[in-house]
Amino acid sequence: MAKPTNDPFPDTAPPASTLALQAVAARAFRASALLTTKAVNVGRVADYVVWQQRTWNRVPKLFSRREKLWAAMAERLDPKRPLLVLEFGVAHGYATAQWLQLLGARRDVVWHGYDRFTGLPRAWDGHEAGAFDNGGVAPAIDDPRVQWHVGDVEDTLRPADVTGHADHQRLILFDLDIYEPTAFAWNVLGPALQPGDLMYFDEAMDADERRVLDELVLPQMTVEAVGSTSLALGLQVVTPARVPAAEPAVTAGA
Ligand SMILES: C[S@@+](CC[C@H](N)C(=O)[O-])C[C@H]1O[C@@H](n2cnc3c(N)ncnc32)[C@H](O)[C@@H]1O
Repeated sequence: MAKPTNDPFPDTAPPASTLALQAVAARAFRASALLTTKAVNVGRVADYVVWQQRTWNRVPKLFSRREKLWAAMAERLDPKRPLLVLEFGVAHGYATAQWLQLLGARRDVVWHGYDRFTGLPRAWDGHEAGAFDNGGVAPAIDDPRVQWHVGDVEDTLRPADVTGHADHQRLILFDLDIYEPTAFAWNVLGPALQPGDLMYFDEAMDADERRVLDELVLPQMTVEAVGSTSLALGLQVVTPARVPAAEPAVTAGA
């Protein structure tokens, strides 16, 4: 609270000590673009941590690397149920290969991988359109459990890909980076998710995936945070999506 003053024109600026520190920072940022980029990134991570605290009233378990978060998510897979994996954003297949290693010899796994394999359709977060291009082809992962869907996810994802495996536990891996296709995929599959299903957002720290979480996922269902990294987030469904009740059928003569 501002101190009472008799000054007829009280100064509303922050305290002199804060202004002095900010002036030092401003000079340093003007001198170094690299330092500025690093400071902006640190600020984004801070914002992500604050968002997690606000969302779950605590910061979920923090992992130093996404591979460790994946291992923690894999511990929540039910060995008594078959598994359906939908991977959105495959690129060169790094996450696919890592997860297949985690799943080991499990044969009861159906894996659908969706990617255009020509990279991002638009510029995103410092990457140009076309970033993560894999030459238009799927990675050379020769595993009978894996089916590739090559093209824009808006054209290749069918509701039956998820509803057709009602008895399976679902693991959904989101790494399309940008808002539009991520929101599209969520709108197709979100209503089918059941308690115990798992979701991974590779870039929850960034505005695009965060928007999907804030506008679509979190208002529609209750999720437990399995853990996070400085970028990513792992979730487990607690209560399924509250889907609006279907319109009553109009009967003849009504
Ligand atoms: C960051 S890369 C995925 C990296 C991968 N998950 C990994 O960890 O190695 C993002 C991918 O999303 C794909 N992508 C973005 N928008 C898409 C869309 N509308 N349809 C299909 N793929 C898309 C790009 O082609 C790109 O390969």
